Amino acid sequence: MEETKQKLRAERNRTLILTDSEQAEIFKKLLIPDDSLNLELENIVNRTICCDLFHIIDRLPVEIADLIVIDPPYNLDKNFNGFKFKSLDNENYLNYLRSWFPKIVKLLKKNGTLYICGDWKCTSALQTIMEENLFVLNRITWQREKGRGALSNWKNSMEDIWFGVKDKNNYFFNVEDVKLKRRVIAPYKENGKPKDWEETENGNFRITYPSNFWDDISIPYWSMPENTDHPTQKPEKLIAKLILASCPIGGIVLDPFLGSGTTSVVAKKLNRQYIGIEINQEYCKWAEKRLEIATNDKSIQGYVDGVFWERNTLNIQQKILKNNKKNNENKIANLFEFEDEKDY
Ligand SMILES: C[S@@+](CC[C@H](N)C(=O)[O-])C[C@H]1O[C@@H](n2cnc3c(N)ncnc32)[C@H](O)[C@@H]1O
Repeated sequence: MEETKQKLRAERNRTLILTDSEQAEIFKKLLIPDDSLNLELENIVNRTICCDLFHIIDRLPVEIADLIVIDPPYNLDKNFNGFKFKSLDNENYLNYLRSWFPKIVKLLKKNGTLYICGDWKCTSALQTIMEENLFVLNRITWQREKGRGALSNWKNSMEDIWFGVKDKNNYFFNVEDVKLKRRVIAPYKENGKPKDWEETENGNFRITYPSNFWDDISIPYWSMPENTDHPTQKPEKLIAKLILASCPIGGIVLDPFLGSGTTSVVAKKLNRQYIGIEINQEYCKWAEKRLEIATNDKSIQGYVDGVFWERNTLNIQQKILKNNKKNNENKIANLFEFEDEKDY
């Protein structure tokens, strides 16, 4: 039977599963380049390229991407479905970065932006490689919650996202599209009127400009429809912020270590184009399946009504989507499932 190989899952577990027949269909959608394939833009845009980045990196067209999102193997021992990354000393990890990073930067348009993610251990190498190749504008810290506790060390609960551009006088940044909606704890009034916040039937809220400390995003969890079995999957909400802020509508977002497809999926949901490269065939298939689902379901958890909501506001987000009836059936269904997540 097709499903017999699947893991046993809890009833409300929404983790992506592909049946054998689906796998065969999805496989046909992948772009598996051989040495003769012309990798010009029109052949690779809006595709999942399934191969080793190092086999094609010198053949990709230059200055094509408005935004590059890089979530590389961190400097940890990690098994990506058979592709094993072995932890290196700092200098050798930097050498590994130097073997491909400058080539990826060449793919960025002159006014383009690049983000690269890492944890505390590899962040100094990331800063070095960014400073060698781009203008660094900031380092975002994502408080990601979850993660294992440790008895002889502090629990690892944060990641960095380095933000750099090719030309510090000419780059796209749309802060209006990445504002946050936060509950007001101390509602201050002036002349009896709310100061910088609004009173609504759902509570008191303030819309704020985003800082470089992000504490409103959980890592994907089994009850969320975006979840796959990828060991280091990024949340759609996190990638949505990068894309909305740093890529114009219709622009091209490139991810050279695509994993389960998060960057391409979010680009599609937000009406941008995408190019994703991933070495592992199973991950590529998950990415394509998620892209297929995104054709009809544009919902991104925690991003409702054009703003990013703080944690523990799921009930209110549901209420708003219900009131705002247009085309929201999928979003509402998904949000109900998110109740399990509980935002830790
Ligand atoms: C940190 S994960 C990316 C996870 C991704 N952001 C997501 O949301 O699923 C890094 C990915 O890079 C892939 N990878 C590592 N080396 C690669 C290479 N040389 N070419 C292409 N992909 C590679 C791994 O298989 C892994 O899926």
